[in-house]
Amino acid sequence: MKFTAITVGALAGAAAVSAESFCDKYSTALFNSTDGAQQLTLLTLVVNSALIGNYSNATSANAPVKPTGILTANGTFNGVNNINLLKYFDGSLLSTNRNGKAVSLNFLDGGGATPLKQNKAANDTKSNQHMLITHLYSYFGSLLGCSSVGKNGFPAYAGSTSQYDVHRFMNLNSAELGYFIQEVAYSAVSFGVSMEDIAPVGQALGTFFNNKCGAPLAVPSSASPAVQSVCLDPTCPVAGNSTCTASNSGTNGTDPAAAPGSSSSSGSGASGSGTTASSAGKVASGVAGALIAGAALAIATLI
Ligand code: HEM
Repeated sequence: MKFTAITVGALAGAAAVSAESFCDKYSTALFNSTDGAQQLTLLTLVVNSALIGNYSNATSANAPVKPTGILTANGTFNGVNNINLLKYFDGSLLSTNRNGKAVSLNFLDGGGATPLKQNKAANDTKSNQHMLITHLYSYFGSLLGCSSVGKNGFPAYAGSTSQYDVHRFMNLNSAELGYFIQEVAYSAVSFGVSMEDIAPVGQALGTFFNNKCGAPLAVPSSASPAVQSVCLDPTCPVAGNSTCTASNSGTNGTDPAAAPGSSSSSGSGASGSGTTASSAGKVASGVAGALIAGAALAIATLI
């Protein structure tokens, strides 16, 4: 899609310094290898630390920043305190999209933080936790240009290719998105990634996801174009050159309701007022080898 290519090209042009991807550069630096198993280990360290905060003895002793953890109820971003992302993962809200309906799902049902601290996704392979976290390894692996995603023990991404669909009932705001992206960035830095290398990654993540009503983009680049906007609260910026319609603006400012039986007081109002018929159906995206063009390459080359 033209729009995709132009947007992505502009991002790439901002900082591209070498043909080597972020992931390949740092898997070589840390493990002296771009093998799938090593790249999966790198993504496991980065994603798990972003989720639960710094835990690994592989972190760099003189890292200027370390992550506090996405799975917290009191994160801080840009002067905003008490950012609570945990409530979207622990089943306390009707914030998960399943077949176009807002439902409650516990994503910490595979042992929570304990297996994450052991460099695993979950204690089992059937849990929501395992599904989500393995998808995050592959998705971020693709975004970061890991040349071995889809081979040598690093599975290709098999989740939804519309992050808008996935997140549309969460009504996330810009501080929540900013905190999430900050934690991913701090995690990478804690393993020795330079601030200079991570800055364009953060910017690219912001451009792709931290807005509402975006035009369809192919992410990973092998996927069909789909809306990727994850920030859907009324205060979120509208993506450049785009307009809000019923099919790209989530619940239109309605916060997810508390799940029945949950003690959460964070939900407010009715859920499920989004009007698109699309679902968060899992799409086998076949990302293998797809890092040669489009969004994935953009992020990959500029990092
Ligand atoms: C840069 C922004 C973000 C990106 C790229 C991103 C990416 C993803 C991906 C790839 C998945 C897996 C989708 C699948 O399995 O089909 C996912 C699921 C999820 N994300 Fe995000 N995410 C972002 C921001 C956030 C934020 C700010 C939250 C708030 C807490 C969040 C909460 C969740 C939850 C709860 C799920 C599970 C949803 C489900 O399985 O239906 N994400 N995200």
